[in-house]
Amino acid sequence: MTDTSILFQSAQLGSLELKNRLAVAPMTRVSATEDGLATQAMADYYAKFARGGFGLIIVEASYVDQKFSQGYHFQPGIATAAQRDAWKVVVDAVHAAGAKICMQLVHAGALNQGRNANYETGAIAPSAFTPKGEMLTFYRGEGGYDTPREITTDELIEIKDSFVSAAVYALEAGFDAIEIHGANGYLLDQFWTAYTNQRTDEYGGNARNRIRLDEEIVKAAIAATQGKIPVGLRLSQSKVNDFEYTWAGGEQDAADIFPVLDEAGVNFIHITEHVATDEVFGSGHSLSGLAKKYSKAPVIVNGGLGDPATAASVIAAGNADVIAQGKSALGNPDWPAKVQAGEPLADFDFGMFSPLADLASQAAWEAAQ
Ligand SMILES: Cc1cc2nc3c(=O)[nH]c(=O)nc-3n(C[C@H](O)[C@H](O)[C@H](O)COP(=O)(O)O)c2cc1C
Repeated sequence: MTDTSILFQSAQLGSLELKNRLAVAPMTRVSATEDGLATQAMADYYAKFARGGFGLIIVEASYVDQKFSQGYHFQPGIATAAQRDAWKVVVDAVHAAGAKICMQLVHAGALNQGRNANYETGAIAPSAFTPKGEMLTFYRGEGGYDTPREITTDELIEIKDSFVSAAVYALEAGFDAIEIHGANGYLLDQFWTAYTNQRTDEYGGNARNRIRLDEEIVKAAIAATQGKIPVGLRLSQSKVNDFEYTWAGGEQDAADIFPVLDEAGVNFIHITEHVATDEVFGSGHSLSGLAKKYSKAPVIVNGGLGDPATAASVIAAGNADVIAQGKSALGNPDWPAKVQAGEPLADFDFGMFSPLADLASQAAWEAAQ
């Protein structure tokens, strides 16, 4: 049997100590109320991963304002005091089961599939560029995306402020860490990605400019939460609406942006890839390996790492500090406990997301097994 003990060593994300190197990746389950309030069913769902031995649970992307940041119906928010208080129930359940819990903050930008009727309609983005791809049907979407309107300079300040106030709400709700969602095609990734960002101001153009919004949000969120909990940033190449995208500048992009994020004080970087062990840009490194090379921050890595031996080898090779499991955790909410006991793991079954990727569909699927 492969030695996986390295996965069960403690790890440090800034000031936060984790009991092991195993995290649950953020997964949107569109199971909040229409007002974006987290529910008891969500608390039960997240607590299960904590009981199963994960050291850290990164919750699903939660929107930061009552304007354009929500992207999916029944997505949770952390934009109001009521939404903050609803999250406390989830936080307490996860803490009682022995894990740490991280909030993920998102602005949907151009990828708007629907939102609360009291918020704004339409979508805003770095530039008026119609997103590639199609809406996600398991989140009630159908057909192509609408063309967004370009964000004004004043709106950029408002957006930054909304991330900051949501970060403070996360701290008040008792979260142990905050992850800014800069990945997967949403607003911050639209700024980072050259083809969706055609701005001519200091937020568009070269890599330094396109990472500026991430840099400023990370810095402001750390200042507002007074360093009490770590603030990290998730980055990817692939997007929910463009699977094949790769960073335009290759390894040079990594060399350009990670030192900027370090300078902003980022407490961790979370890299997600389809297959996180794949080499990128002919660099001899995986993308998380490049994050380790160019950043001093701890690195969480995610993507196709459900095999315990592979996960352990990524840590052993120094290509990341923490492994995040998405679909493998859904198939095995007790992945850490099973691996430690040497028990076999179950395969993930997409039937769980049918007809919707919500907790009700999952419960119906489980009852039918
Ligand atoms: C149903 C579903 C919802 C997801 N929602 C989010 C999300 O809210 N935020 C995020 O950063 N990634 C999200 N992801 C991406 C996962 O965090 C992860 O990157 C992806 O599943 C690949 O990792 P895996 O191979 O371990 O499953 C989601 C993935 C799935 C399957």
